[in-house]
Amino acid sequence: MDFQPILESIASECAPLTREGAVATYIPALARVDQRQFGIALRTVDGMEAAAGSATTRFSIQSISKVLSLTLGMQRLGERLWERIGREPSGDPFNSLVQLEHEHGVPRNPLINAGAIAVADRLVSGDAHAKESLRALVSDLAGTPIAFDREVANSEAATGFRNFAMANFMKSFGKLDNPVDEVLDLYFHQCALSMSCAELAHAFSYLARDGRHPDSDQVVLDPKQTRRVNALMLTCGTYDAAGEFAFRIGLPCKSGVGGGIVAVIPDRLTLVVWSPGLGPTGNSVAGMRALELFVEKTKLSVF
Ligand code: DON
Repeated sequence: MDFQPILESIASECAPLTREGAVATYIPALARVDQRQFGIALRTVDGMEAAAGSATTRFSIQSISKVLSLTLGMQRLGERLWERIGREPSGDPFNSLVQLEHEHGVPRNPLINAGAIAVADRLVSGDAHAKESLRALVSDLAGTPIAFDREVANSEAATGFRNFAMANFMKSFGKLDNPVDEVLDLYFHQCALSMSCAELAHAFSYLARDGRHPDSDQVVLDPKQTRRVNALMLTCGTYDAAGEFAFRIGLPCKSGVGGGIVAVIPDRLTLVVWSPGLGPTGNSVAGMRALELFVEKTKLSVF
C-alpha cells in the first residue's frame, strides 16, 4: 500500500480541526504551545516510513511515556510488576483519585497516572539512575538521542499537586517503596521526554513486531509481554475514552496531553499523530479524527 498520499490527504482534511479543543493549561509549559500544528508519521514493520505535516517537530510525549516506562518495568521485573498494579480499565479520568481509596492504593492499570507512578516507584528501586536508564531505552528504540525538556519537567514538578496527592496516598497504603519526591522526579521527567511523530513511530515499532527491536531485531519484550502491552493500550490507553477509541478506531492507542497519540497495528505498522488541541478526555481532537480517517481509508484494524 502507498501510504504517503493517504497521510497527506489526512493532514489536509485534519488541518481545520486543529482549531478545536484546547491545549493543556494545567501544565504551564504546555499552555504556551501553538495549537494550530498537526503531524502524522508511520513506520511499517519492515522499516518503510511515510509522514505528513509537522512530523519531525518534537513535542512533549507526556502520558505516551507510560508505555515506555511499563516496558522497562516488564523487562526488569517480569511478573512481579503486577504485584501492585491491576489491568482493568478505570473508566475515570487519567488523574482521578477516587478508585485508589476503595482499592487500597493499588492502581487499576499502569497507563493512568497512579499506575505510572507505581511503575516509576519500582524503577527507582535499585536504580540510582532510573531517569537515565529510561532515556537510554527510549533513545535506543528511537534510533536517535532523545532528551528531557527540563522546562516541562520543572513546570510539572511546580504544579503537579494531584500527582503529589496520588503518590502520597499510595504511600499511605504502603504501596510505594521510595520517597515521593524521587518517584515523581522520574515520572515528571518521563512525561517531559520530547519526541516527534517520526521518532515515536520508530520507537514504538517493537509493539508491531512481536517485541523485536526495529533496527537490531533484538528482543525488547517477548511476544506474550508485547501482546499484553497492546491489550492494555486498547483497553486503558486513552482513559475514559477507551471505549470510544475502540468503537471509532479499533486499534491499541496511547495518548498524551501534549497532543500526541501512538497507535499500533500488530504485524503491520505503528502510526503516530500529533496536534495539541485536546478534547474533554485529554485526547487530541484532530489526532483522533486522523486515526479514524486512516482506518477508514486503509481498512487496517485489529477487528
Ligand atoms: O501527570 C500528568 O498529568 C501529565 N504529566 C500526563 C497526563 C497525560 O498525558 C494524560 N494523557 N492524556
